Amino acid sequence: MYLITLDGETDFDGWRAAARSLALHRVVPAEVNWSVKGHVNGHAPSGLFEPSVLPPFDMADSTFNVPANFISLARAAILNRDSERFALLYRLLWRLKTDHDLLATMTDSDVAAATAMANAVHRDIRRMREVVRFREIGRERKAHYAAWFVPEHHIVEFAAPFFARRYADMPWSILTPDVCAHWDGHAITFTPGISRTEMPTANRLEETWRHHFQPYRPTQAETPKETSGKHGRNLAEASILEPLLADAARWTGGTMRPRPETPMKRKTDLDTLREDAAHCRACPLWKDATQTVFGEGPANATIMLVGEQPGDKEDLAGKPFVGPAGLMLDRALEEAGVDRRKVYVTNAVKHFKFLVRGKIRLHQKPSTPEIRACRQWYERELAAIQPALVVALGATAAQSVFGKITPIGRTRGRLIDLSEGCKALVTVHPSYLLRLPDPESKELEYRRFVDDLKIAAGLQKNSARAA
Ligand code: URA
Repeated sequence: MYLITLDGETDFDGWRAAARSLALHRVVPAEVNWSVKGHVNGHAPSGLFEPSVLPPFDMADSTFNVPANFISLARAAILNRDSERFALLYRLLWRLKTDHDLLATMTDSDVAAATAMANAVHRDIRRMREVVRFREIGRERKAHYAAWFVPEHHIVEFAAPFFARRYADMPWSILTPDVCAHWDGHAITFTPGISRTEMPTANRLEETWRHHFQPYRPTQAETPKETSGKHGRNLAEASILEPLLADAARWTGGTMRPRPETPMKRKTDLDTLREDAAHCRACPLWKDATQTVFGEGPANATIMLVGEQPGDKEDLAGKPFVGPAGLMLDRALEEAGVDRRKVYVTNAVKHFKFLVRGKIRLHQKPSTPEIRACRQWYERELAAIQPALVVALGATAAQSVFGKITPIGRTRGRLIDLSEGCKALVTVHPSYLLRLPDPESKELEYRRFVDDLKIAAGLQKNSARAA
């Protein structure tokens, strides 16, 4: 029996190195017992048997390749709280040596189990991004922001960089029962988790706080400059705890309330697509965005409207065109006689791309590789809905709809054959109208926009009559 002890619950590199070595030594999965420092998983508690030691192996001489999607699956699944994950992933790795396409067999119980673990992790990360709400504490000195969160899986270390990018200019702490993450404006540090049972009284929490933070406060000698200083000092201050405690019930209530049960409903193709797209990692935009903003609207829509990408408001709401450009679009659709409730509205790129400037997230135009990476979702939405008309709002949408850079000037305002039974119409993006500086050209361009949408209105009416 081989006993592998990983450094921690999220020690992917340790798992990978051990799994690789075990596989190269042809150690069958049943012969391996995986544990994490401090406790043993699996069937044989440590001390009851003498673990075998792998002989040294010249890794350079012998190697094998696993598909890239196995690595991303394993990276996510390893964050799952299921204690069987290390063994399951090694079993998959072992089987991949002889069956390279194994991951495509979703009916395989190991593949299905690992995929379910990875999906649960992704859902938990999304939930964390959505529900973490910082509250200002310690205002009497320097402001610090804190949030309480209870993760279902070991996601805090993985998810923390997102919050560092998103809230780059405010020092924050995310407190969880597993591990606490802290950002001081320069670096992320981690300290042990805080148990809820440690929170009932101010004194006890204060004690816990001091206990947890002090041993981990690095010394000048061992700390990179940016992780010491104001962050450590602030956290050690008992004064910052008081408002935190006063607010604790509301705070935890806000983040720990069980999610309401959603009524059972039959899944449509679009539901499946939406779920798949929620885990999309085809380009790096997912890292900073709050969530994938998928299309919305009836699956039998005659018209599909394609925008560029979600903006700040859409990123937070998870719905397309709900911000200022959405208001402009709604107004123009109404004036043109298009019923938005009957339209499927989506974007060429489904994650918000932005630059942080102070407290503002500045919209950035998506690049061609990002548009290409996201095009699979547009194509799959198109195939699921089969609209009679696709309206491309602006150049990015047109690039996605036609699969190539398409100047708006030359194509605008006329119906173009896209495929059997489906036409395309190109017009401007509503945010172009919002940016126009003088009221006269704004009005003129708005009228042209409404005229373009009237073509869509005609089609919507005809198809309603035909139905
Ligand atoms: N702009 C877009 O292109 N899409 C949105 O969803 C919002 C703004």
